[in-house]
Amino acid sequence: MTAVLRRPPEPVAARKTSFDLGNARVHWLADDAQATHTLNVGNLLFPTGERFFNDSLRNALPYVTDDRLRKEIRGFLGQEVTHGNEHERCVERMEEHGIDFRRELDLFEQGRKILDERVNALPEPFRRQAVLLMIAATAAAEHFTASLAGYILEDNTWSDTAVDPDMSHLFLWHASEEIEHRHVAFDVYRHVGGGYARRAAIMIPLGLAVPVLWPLLTSEVMRRDPAARGMWSWRRHLRSVRRGEVFSLPRSFWDMRLYFKPNHHPGDLPASLDMALNYLAEAPSVLGHRGRRRRARVE
Ligand SMILES: [Fe+2]
Ligand SMILES: [Fe+2]
Repeated sequence: MTAVLRRPPEPVAARKTSFDLGNARVHWLADDAQATHTLNVGNLLFPTGERFFNDSLRNALPYVTDDRLRKEIRGFLGQEVTHGNEHERCVERMEEHGIDFRRELDLFEQGRKILDERVNALPEPFRRQAVLLMIAATAAAEHFTASLAGYILEDNTWSDTAVDPDMSHLFLWHASEEIEHRHVAFDVYRHVGGGYARRAAIMIPLGLAVPVLWPLLTSEVMRRDPAARGMWSWRRHLRSVRRGEVFSLPRSFWDMRLYFKPNHHPGDLPASLDMALNYLAEAPSVLGHRGRRRRARVE
C-alpha cells in the first residue's frame, strides 16, 4: 500500500507565475453570475486575509527554533504574498466591470495593519500569547481554505470553453499551493506551544461564520454587479456544485468537524497532496518548477 503524504517531501517555496487576466469576462465561470461571484468572494477576502496569515507567522519567527519549520514559514510567506497579489489583480478586473468594494477593502487592510502594530508593541510574555492567538486563527482559516481547495482541485469540471482559462489556472494554482502548505500554520502553532483548547475555541466562531458570511458576501457582489440578475440561492449553489462548477459550502462546513479531533493534523484532510503537487509540476501558468523556483521576497 502506498503511504499517504501528510507533508510535502521538500519545504514549501513560492513559485513565479504568469496569468493574463485582461480578457476575463465579467462572469468568467460558466457565464453564471452566482457561480462566478462565489469564487470572486475569495478575491475580496484573500489579499488582506492572507496578509494577516503572514503577519501571524512572521511574528512567530522569533519563537521558532526548528530549521525546517523556519524554511517552511519563509515558503509559506512567499506563497501567500503571491496569492494576495494575484487576487488583487482579480479585484482590479472586477472594478473594471463596475463591481466596487474598494472602500471596504481599504478598511479591512487598515484594520489588519493596526492589529499587527498593536500586537508587536506588546511586551513579553503578552506578545507571545497574542501571536499564538493570531496563529490559531490562521491555522483554523487554513483548514477551511485547504478544504475549499480540495473541492476546487478534485471536483471541478472546468473546461476552457466554459471557464476563462487564466482565471481557472489562477484558482487551481492557488488551490494546489493551499493544499501543499496546509500543515505550516498548524505545525508552527504547536511548535510555539499552542494547545487544543485555544485552537478549537477559535474554530467555533469561524466555522459558524463561513456558511453564513460566504453566501451573504456573494449576494452583495451580485447586488453590486451591473450585469447580474437575481439573488443568491442555496438551490443554485447546490446545482453549481453538482455540475462541478464551484466548491461545496455544506461539505466544507462539514469538514470543520475534523479540526476538533484532539490528534488532528492538516495532513489528514481528504484532499490529495499528491494531486496538488502533480498539478503544480505541470501547471501552465507556473514559470519554472522544482529546482528553478523563485525565492520570493518575504521579509
Ligand atoms: Fe493562499
Ligand atoms: Fe494558505
